[in-house]
Amino acid sequence: MHDAESPTADSDDAIAEAFEVVARSAPEIRGGLAGRRGKTDEQNASGETQLAADVWADDLLEERLTAIEEVGQFASEERDGVVEAGDGEYAVTVDPLDGSSNLKPNNTMGTILGVYDGDLPAPGRNLVGAAYVLYGPITTMVTAREGEVTEYVVENDGSRRAVREDVTLPEEPTVYGFGGRVPNWTDRFADYAREVANELKLRYGGAMIGDVNQVLTYGGVFAYPELESRPEGKLRLQFEGNPIGYIIESAGGASSDGETSLLDAEVEELHQRTPVYVGNRDLIERLEAGF
Ligand code: AHG
Repeated sequence: MHDAESPTADSDDAIAEAFEVVARSAPEIRGGLAGRRGKTDEQNASGETQLAADVWADDLLEERLTAIEEVGQFASEERDGVVEAGDGEYAVTVDPLDGSSNLKPNNTMGTILGVYDGDLPAPGRNLVGAAYVLYGPITTMVTAREGEVTEYVVENDGSRRAVREDVTLPEEPTVYGFGGRVPNWTDRFADYAREVANELKLRYGGAMIGDVNQVLTYGGVFAYPELESRPEGKLRLQFEGNPIGYIIESAGGASSDGETSLLDAEVEELHQRTPVYVGNRDLIERLEAGF
């Protein structure tokens, strides 16, 4: 593990290489979606039916990310366990296709990457880099490392050009997006949602990456909250909560599991779920105050 005082060139190489692999793979993943919208008869570790696209994107990213010398472990929302990949000190996690259920209605989807310094499962504080690709009208990528967030347009050849540097959430929040079914929200989240709905505009598309990118762009809050039937929520801490929490906190926002920063959440197992709340700091503080 590198201490903060002596980060070495390797840490930069591994993070930069992982970002580059995901950027260069993005056009291929996007191009391969059309023919892979069907369901397989397999389920992932979270008990969700896998699309052909989930499995294909996952295999593609596993092969390329584990080829990075400093990567010693790979894990994915679509795989049960950790893939050992040599003695590199970094562990990478992916949600290869976030929002798979959006493929059928041709709505936005994404790919999420986390780069942890140390073995998995790991707390969010071990992240040294995180990124997501958004398959929207254009393909963009957001990266975060050393407290700085950058947005890129990804070209068809996988090259990318920075379009926004040192990205921070706008001071004035504008949008909100809350997952789950309203009757399944807890009373305390429903109270919070009512307050926020009176102040902001609803933007919920069913893929975390699309909804989070709205919050990063316009300011506001995204939540996939605790539910009456599922107090731990739906999203996975290791593959979704931690990387997105890292990115939003790097952009001057805040993240929470309802009590504390997602990055400080206790990690028990690789596929553990967590409620996810990310956005402008005062909106997250108001949520925690009401919990
Ligand atoms: P999936 O990849 O199975 O479609 O799940 C996506 C996640 C996340 O991206 C999104 O915020 C949430 O699930 C949407 O869940 P609902 O379908 O319950 O709204």
